[in-house]
Amino acid sequence: MNQDELKAAVADAAIKEIASQLEKDTVLGIGTGSTANLFIDRLGPLRDRFKGAVASSKASAERLERLGIEVFELNDVGTVPFYIDGADEVNAHLHMIKGGGAALTREKIVAACAKRFICIADGSKYVSQLGNFPLPVEVIPMARSYVARELVVLGAEPVYRQGVVTDNGNQIIDCFEFMIADPVAMEARINAIVGVVTNGLFAARGADVLLLGKEDGVERIAL
Ligand code: A5P
Repeated sequence: MNQDELKAAVADAAIKEIASQLEKDTVLGIGTGSTANLFIDRLGPLRDRFKGAVASSKASAERLERLGIEVFELNDVGTVPFYIDGADEVNAHLHMIKGGGAALTREKIVAACAKRFICIADGSKYVSQLGNFPLPVEVIPMARSYVARELVVLGAEPVYRQGVVTDNGNQIIDCFEFMIADPVAMEARINAIVGVVTNGLFAARGADVLLLGKEDGVERIAL
């Protein structure tokens, strides 16, 4: 199976994971990216079985609406029973690096309001240590150079993601050459830098379930 087929397999598995728990008043939390898109596409035919969704990006909101799924503001919903999203890297503790698509802040907000975070990822995303994928950090534009200098102090090689403006009007710095030994501590450390909006480590609130697409099928890992 190629990577796209593995992503499709985990999107199918996520539908199976939640389908029996959909109620008329269920509002789902939906992530961003190519794997989340495959999940959204499979959710379309089920739209009459649940109320709607909260999206972690404008792109996902538009995709949901095109399929006839109503999109709600998180402030009007409160909590969601499930948040379903992909990852750029995930480890055995279900800590993740996310934000390759620059949606990390809204992803983290919706995930924080979810009872269960279901991560859907093809096998290439599963790593023993996070950091080979450059860690994204969303910054207030005027703080970009200052934050970059602080990231150098932490050991990273920061690179400004030119031309990218987040849904929140901010900028992204990617941290290269930055293997992360303690994701929970590093998530908090980077968030403490003035001017950082958030960083792409999802460790304090990791996933609860990982559906991992492998050659021999989808492995379900739950904490
Ligand atoms: C979006 O900002 C990201 O966090 C995505 O969830 C992550 O990059 C995974 O994307 P793919 O499903 O496209 O690999």
